[in-house]
Amino acid sequence: MSTRRGIILAGGAGTRLWPLTAAISKQMLPVYDKPMIYYPLSTLMLAGIREIMIISSPDALPMFRRMLGDGARWGMRLEYVEQASPRGIAEALILGRDFIGDDPFTLILGDNLFYANDLSIVLSRISGAVERNTVFGYWVDRPEEFGVVKLDADRNVVDIIEKPAELISNWAVPGLYFYRADVADRAMRLTPSARGELEITDINRQLVEAGDLDVELFGRGTAWLDSGLPDSLLEAGEFVKVIEKRTGLKIGCPEEIALRQGFIGIDQLRDLAADVAKSDYGRYLLRLAEQAF
Ligand code: TTP
Repeated sequence: MSTRRGIILAGGAGTRLWPLTAAISKQMLPVYDKPMIYYPLSTLMLAGIREIMIISSPDALPMFRRMLGDGARWGMRLEYVEQASPRGIAEALILGRDFIGDDPFTLILGDNLFYANDLSIVLSRISGAVERNTVFGYWVDRPEEFGVVKLDADRNVVDIIEKPAELISNWAVPGLYFYRADVADRAMRLTPSARGELEITDINRQLVEAGDLDVELFGRGTAWLDSGLPDSLLEAGEFVKVIEKRTGLKIGCPEEIALRQGFIGIDQLRDLAADVAKSDYGRYLLRLAEQAF
């Protein structure tokens, strides 16, 4: 069965970015030339997903609705659901239960940026056949800051530990998860951790114990960045700027992906570009519509 629906979790407190987040949601902050949420949105679109639910705080949700609308202009369907308070990443599975229905789905964190040569191919392959729950592994220098997978010699996952004090591996688990619908039932039964959150690592660990979780390892040519700290926010912006300046192509441009995925046609892209033609972004869209490069 293929994944048609995705969830972007874009709430949270953003305490590590204060005072940037005193009045603005973290996922609205700029990562170079776009709001942060454009990047996870683009990742889901690259996986071929057109129906997306955005979860955020009661304060931020109306602003996301204003920013992104109902998705029709990108040939998509966007829905919005409140998370009353940041009770943990796994709560997204509970809040998204009706939206998910009986189909496999994808969850992505609203502050995660992925960039890789064959990302669309990898994601489409996984989302095209989700018989297995799948998370990813990404080699990091400081695994103690992440949820980490322990692998056996055949690279099967044997354990997942949140912020391990001792080195179990360098394979961190990024905020991108492909699940079957029944994983939401596990979330319903989950109890909060010591820090009072419903932990996605607890869900993943249960799946490992049930022999029901695959890990797909990203190669070293992949960039995975999050923007949770002032430095990482700036670094993500610099990364996007460097690539975009060099290539003249934008990273995380939903209009472009919508065109390339066939969600919209050239005429619709031209109309979208005309609305914002004074910006660099609008001129990029116009160029796309003219050249379809
Ligand atoms: P975190 O970076 O773990 O938390 P945060 O964004 O609240 O930031 P801070 O630690 O500085 O307070 O969250 C990862 C992503 O998940 C981020 O996009 C916010 C989102 N999130 C929610 O939407 N709801 C939640 O309950 C949690 C814990 C996170």
